[in-house]
Amino acid sequence: MLSHSEEETVKIAKEVGKKLQNGDIVALFGELGAGKTVFVKGICKVFGITRRVKSPSFTVIREYIPNKTHNSDRLPNKIYHIDLYRINDPSSILIQEVYERLGERNGICLIEWADRIEDLLPEDVVKIHMKIIDDKTREINVNSFP
Ligand SMILES: Nc1ncnc2c1ncn2[C@@H]1O[C@H](COP(=O)(O)OP(=O)(O)OP(=O)(O)O)[C@@H](O)[C@H]1O
Ligand SMILES: [Mg+2]
Repeated sequence: MLSHSEEETVKIAKEVGKKLQNGDIVALFGELGAGKTVFVKGICKVFGITRRVKSPSFTVIREYIPNKTHNSDRLPNKIYHIDLYRINDPSSILIQEVYERLGERNGICLIEWADRIEDLLPEDVVKIHMKIIDDKTREINVNSFP
């Protein structure tokens, strides 16, 4: 589908966010400026996280505490915002913690630059592909939910 503005991307992200539950993993693919962080912010809004969502490039993993649930399910324990931009070697020591988080399934993991570990992702991840069409237009593809 096409998004014509940042706001529209947030709206699409919220729709995806509403389907997520504890243990889910979302992998975001797309070039610099494609809107991956905007998408993450949209998902986080669903869980009542509005502040402090920014790219965690220097920390690899940022943790947010959800304070709202979108349905009757229990609140996810944590939201992990992971940015692999700086990871070039998938066996890097930095990434061990990422694999631990993914393995635990104790929260929702949102991964920017997921292509860095694409071959190592579990089968049931939700994949979001984003492409820059022009200044304000993005093509967004969401794979079907497991
Ligand atoms: N339709 C759109 N959807 C999302 N963002 C848009 C759209 N149109 C313009 N933008 C702009 O594109 C930029 C996207 O930035 P964002 O940080 O989300 O990209 P990113 O994919 O996370 O980049 P990076 O690889 O650096 O982490 C923002 O400045 C946003 O305002
Ligand atoms: Mg980003």
